[in-house]
Amino acid sequence: MAASIDEAEFIWKNGELIPWAEATVHVLSTAVQFGASVFEGIRCYHTAQGPAVFRLPEHIHRLRNSWRIYRMEPGFTEAELVQASLDVVHANNLKSAYIRPMVMRGYGSMTMDGAESPIETVIPAWKWGAYLGKDALAKGVDVCVSSWARAASNTFPGMAKAAGHYNNAALIKMEAKRLGYVEAIALTPAGIVSEGSGQNVFAVIDGALVTPPIEGSNLQGITRASVFQIARDLDIDVREMIMPREALYGAEELFFAGTATEITPIRSVDDIVIGAGRMGPVTAQIQQRFLGIVSGEMEDRHGWLTPVR
Ligand SMILES: Cc1ncc(COP(=O)(O)O)c(C=O)c1O
Repeated sequence: MAASIDEAEFIWKNGELIPWAEATVHVLSTAVQFGASVFEGIRCYHTAQGPAVFRLPEHIHRLRNSWRIYRMEPGFTEAELVQASLDVVHANNLKSAYIRPMVMRGYGSMTMDGAESPIETVIPAWKWGAYLGKDALAKGVDVCVSSWARAASNTFPGMAKAAGHYNNAALIKMEAKRLGYVEAIALTPAGIVSEGSGQNVFAVIDGALVTPPIEGSNLQGITRASVFQIARDLDIDVREMIMPREALYGAEELFFAGTATEITPIRSVDDIVIGAGRMGPVTAQIQQRFLGIVSGEMEDRHGWLTPVR
């Protein structure tokens, strides 16, 4: 099967740029054996002024929170990793990219705490397009509610973006695809709406834009925070709401928000059509402003874009 990663030339590893093919790890690395890796997913957009990275310092700060939770000090400052992320896009001459910084436990320990394994830091970047298919942004996606719950916060801490947690996300995504949907919305262990396998979820209910609170089983999305800011800028009433599963079915609008998904309308949940079955007016306003800012076509009034050079 062809790889779906569009290979670039260099990967940043522990302070230097090395050839893509040489950025390997041992099969007995703690990261491979036990999923001991924390990571980020960041988009660099093509703009008329050149490539620009969306909310890079915020992503690197979340990476820092993840490595602190898992006690994996990489020995690089946040500022150094911000610069390294820009360097790797520049070195690969990418006009737009997905950047995937990772801090992981390497080779050395047999035990799952990985105490003797060195901490390795890598930053790959490659060319990447739409995540849920090219029509998803315009036409929306059909989703189901997953039979798999997200993890309780005292099991896998939701504020950490850690590789091992994504086995749960994979169960959610695989079930959705097996049933003929592109994505699923997962509930918390208590049965309350949480998020998608890799994106936060928003609803318009009784005219207000709402999203589940960060109660420990969902990730504190940077796109989610941006949607809050955009809604306030547009005078749209936005707030957190504890949302029972059934609130999804009656919502006027639903959409996903995430780095990969951007702002993607949800057309139906469990085959129940949401609103008119197409992008609703609130989603359209948020999506238009979001895509306008990231593409450099609208004013970046909050300083969300970092130019690569
Ligand atoms: C589980 C999960 N929830 C939500 C998100 C959305 O977060 P962000 O907007 O920071 O990409 C992601 C993506 O990183 C994710 O993996």
